[in-house]
Amino acid sequence: MNYKLVIAEALHQQIGDTLPMETIFNLLEKPKTAEHGDVAFPTFTLAKTFRKAPQLIAAELGEVVSSPIIEKIEVVGPYLNFFLAKKAVSTAVLSDVLQEGAHYGDLTIGEGRNVPIDMSSPNIAKPISMGHLRSTVIGNALANIYRKVGYQPIKINHLGDWGTQFGKLIVAYKLWGDADAIAAEPIAELLRLYVKFHSVAEEKPELNDNAREWFKKLEDDEPEAVSLWQWFREESLKEFNHIYDLLDIHFDSFNGEAFYNDKMDEVVNLLEEKDLLKINQNASIVDLEKYNLNPALIKKSDGATLYITRDLAAAIYRKRTYNFAQSLYVVGNEQSNHFKQLKAVLTEMGYEWSDDMHHVPFGLITQGGKKLSTRQGKIVLLEEVLNEAIGLAHQQIEEKNPDLPNKDEVADQVGIGAVIFHDLKNDRLNNFDFVIEEVVRFEGETGPYVQYTRARAMSILRKAGVVDIDAAGEYALDDPYSWEIIKLLQEYPDIVQRAYNKLEPSVIAKHALHLAQAFNRYYANSKVLVEDAEKPARLALVQSVAAVLKEDLRLLGVKAPDQM
Ligand code: ARG
Repeated sequence: MNYKLVIAEALHQQIGDTLPMETIFNLLEKPKTAEHGDVAFPTFTLAKTFRKAPQLIAAELGEVVSSPIIEKIEVVGPYLNFFLAKKAVSTAVLSDVLQEGAHYGDLTIGEGRNVPIDMSSPNIAKPISMGHLRSTVIGNALANIYRKVGYQPIKINHLGDWGTQFGKLIVAYKLWGDADAIAAEPIAELLRLYVKFHSVAEEKPELNDNAREWFKKLEDDEPEAVSLWQWFREESLKEFNHIYDLLDIHFDSFNGEAFYNDKMDEVVNLLEEKDLLKINQNASIVDLEKYNLNPALIKKSDGATLYITRDLAAAIYRKRTYNFAQSLYVVGNEQSNHFKQLKAVLTEMGYEWSDDMHHVPFGLITQGGKKLSTRQGKIVLLEEVLNEAIGLAHQQIEEKNPDLPNKDEVADQVGIGAVIFHDLKNDRLNNFDFVIEEVVRFEGETGPYVQYTRARAMSILRKAGVVDIDAAGEYALDDPYSWEIIKLLQEYPDIVQRAYNKLEPSVIAKHALHLAQAFNRYYANSKVLVEDAEKPARLALVQSVAAVLKEDLRLLGVKAPDQM
C-alpha cells in the first residue's frame, strides 16, 4: 500500500478534476518533524486555481477529507498535516510484503524491453583493476535493478581484446616467451612480456615495426597470429573467471573489441556515405566542433582502426541485435569524453537512438588517498584482495559464532559481500579509499552489518518456529519503533524506482542500512517473543524486515546467509 497515493485519492475526491491526481500526489510532502504528521499537503497551487486564500482552502478541506488510513488532519495555516492511522497502515503494509515476498517492490516500467549493459570489460593480458571491479559490481547491481523494474538486462563484457598491443605481445612472446609460465600465471607473465617489450623497444625501435606487422597479420586472419592471440585471450579469461566466480557475477556476452573487427568497414563506409569523414594528416576523423568536442579519430594513417571505431560498430550492432530501450556503459568517469564523442558521432550519423545511450560513470578507488595504477608497477591483485576479505570474515565468524556449521560458505558470502557493499553504498561518482579492515567490519555502515541484522531476524523466526505467516492477518502495530520500520517498508517501491531513475545502487544500499538500523533499534526496545496478543504482528514485522533486507542485498549482488 502506498499511503501517499491513498491520501492523494482522498484529496482528489474532494477537490475534483480541476487538479489531476498526479499533480496532487506530487504536491504531497514529507514533514520535517514527526509532530507535523506523516504527510503534508500545501494548498498554494489550489489557491491559484480557485482564487481563494490558501488558509481558507486548507480549513475547508480539513473538514471533509477522510480515509480509513487517516487518523486525523491538523490544519496549520495553508498546510494540511495528515496523521496516519498507524495500525491500519501497518496491517496493509505488512500484508503486502508477506504476500509479495521477493517480488515486493517489483515495477513494470521496462515492459520487458532490452537493455544491454556494458560492464567490467577488462583488457586481455593485463590485470583486472579496481576500476574494472567497480564497473563489474555497479553493472551487476544495475542489471538487477533494471530487471526489478521490468526490463530485460543483457550483461556484456566488452573485453579489450584487440589493438596494436597484441602485435607487441606476439613479438615479445616469440622472443622471450615461455608457454608453461603463461599457463601457470597468465596475466603476470603476459604483463612481464609486455613491459619487457617496451623497455627493449626503447633501444631497438625496429621491434615496433615487427609488432605492427604482427598486428596486421592478426587483422588479416593469419593462422599463427590468430592462434597466439586466441591463446592469450583464453588464458587471460581463465584468470578473470576466477574473479567473476568469486563475485558470482556472470555475463550474457563476451563479445569484446575483436568481435567487431569484421564490422568496422561498414562503419567507415557509412561515415563516408554520410560525408562525415575528413582527412587530416592522412588520418580519418569526424569533426565534432559543434559539440565542443575534439575530433573523433576513426582511422589512423596506417589504416588501423581505434577504440572508438570499435565502439561505433558495437553500438550499431547492439541496436540491431537487441533493439534496446536504453544502452548503458558502466565505465569510469575518466572516459566521459570518449562516450560524449561516441554519442555525438552517432547523432551526426542520424541515429536518434543515440539519445538512449547512457554512460554511467563512477569515481576512483584510492589507497591511502592515492590513485592505484598498474603503470607504476603497483598492481593490486584483485583476487588477493577478495581472498583477504574472506579471511577477515572467517576470523570474525570464528570469534562470534564458532559453532556455525557452514563457516566456509558464510565466510565467502560475508567477505565478498563486504567488498561489494562497500563499493555500492556511496554515490557512484564519489572516490573512496579502500581499507580492507574497514570494509569487513560487522558494525557500522557495512555489508556484514546488514547481513548480520538479517541473520538475527531469521534466528528470531527460527526460535518462534515460524514457517509462513498468513498474509491476510491483522498486523496492527503502532509503537514508534515499529512505525519507523513500517515507513521504510512502505516506501520500498519508491526506493527501487529512485535507484532506477538515478542509475544509483547506493539508493538501495542506503535503504538496507536504514532498515537494518531501524530493526536493531526495534529489537533493542521490544520483546518480540513474549506471548501476548501482538506477537503475531511482531513476527510479521520481523519476517517482512528479513524479506526486504534480503531483496535489498540481492539487488546489490550480495548474499544473505540465514545464520552467521
Ligand atoms: N577495456 C576498457 C578499459 O579497460 C573499457 C571498455 C569499456 N566499454 C566500452 N564499450 N568502451 O578501459
